[in-house]
Amino acid sequence: MRYVVTGAAGFIGSHLSDALVEGGHDVVAVDCLTDYYDPAEKEENARGLDLLRIDLAEESLDLDGVDGVFHLAGQPGVRSFGEAFPLYLRRNVLATQRVFDAASTAGLRVVFASSSSIYGEAERYPTPEGTVPEPISPYGITKLACEQLARAYGLDSVALRYFTVYGPRQRPDMLFRRICDALTSGGTIEIYGTGEQSRSFTEVGDVVDATIAAMAEAPAGAVYNVGGGDEASLLEAVALLEEISGRPLDVRHLDRARGDVRRTQADVSRIRDALGWEPRVPLARGLERMWAWASARVATP
Ligand SMILES: NC(=O)c1ccc[n+]([C@@H]2O[C@H](COP(=O)([O-])OP(=O)(O)OC[C@H]3O[C@@H](n4cnc5c(N)ncnc54)[C@H](O)[C@@H]3O)[C@@H](O)[C@H]2O)c1
Repeated sequence: MRYVVTGAAGFIGSHLSDALVEGGHDVVAVDCLTDYYDPAEKEENARGLDLLRIDLAEESLDLDGVDGVFHLAGQPGVRSFGEAFPLYLRRNVLATQRVFDAASTAGLRVVFASSSSIYGEAERYPTPEGTVPEPISPYGITKLACEQLARAYGLDSVALRYFTVYGPRQRPDMLFRRICDALTSGGTIEIYGTGEQSRSFTEVGDVVDATIAAMAEAPAGAVYNVGGGDEASLLEAVALLEEISGRPLDVRHLDRARGDVRRTQADVSRIRDALGWEPRVPLARGLERMWAWASARVATP
């Protein structure tokens, strides 16, 4: 099969592209290398892929000869209030609308990255997909808008609500990456709030498996949580990484960040029943893999 992967130079998109190539598929890798973090890091992620530099918010996407679209390009991160918001609108809502438009004309399936952020402070945990979405960040609102757009287009689409993804190549603004960077440089780590907030952390290999299965097997219009089995607090994650690396860390606390929820915990029964997917990588093992990557990266810059 020949698939377009948008956001192919990003954290998750690059793993997905590698897995598709490994599975014998052709990948049209699309990314405009935004400067949200160092584009050199994205070029490194995309090494081995033939990258098409297209800004999806304004350039057209040629879908001739393509069998499906994985749409992962976007502007991530919940710190999306104020001046940042136009970027979220452009890179999430506008870019996605244009991808949906092209896919709808070509009659193609789109599997796209939504987020656990659409739930906000959810009314129950573990949170099933039927929960009323009440995002508390503008980012979550743009992701919810993408889901609604897919519906409005009547698109053959699958929305995947990813829950805090981690692993090698994790974005430098994300917590585990910041912890690894602090551990390698012997520095301190700044945590928003008390650190008691908890997450359904999901290993990127598990996320890739769910995403590929969704393209192949999910019914049109499906919406699935893609979340890890182990819920842990941020402080527990710090302690685990200290133990794995054998290095101590100085933790400093900042004010709680606006838009950051207190808890996420995925109910994955829907995707388990439909696709037979469930998270396989326990947090401790996933963190060992991530630490191996982060420490090797420093050893061979
Ligand atoms: N990482 C997580 O924990 C997580 C959780 C929930 C949802 N998501 C979603 O998954 C997707 C991938 O996240 P990630 O962590 O890999 O982020 P990332 O920033 O590493 O990757 C996104 C990529 O999209 C590209 N991009 C952005 N706007 C573009 C545009 N207009 N045209 C072309 N390319 C563009 C960026 O250059 C970047 O390489 C995003 O849509 C994100 O919102 C991520």
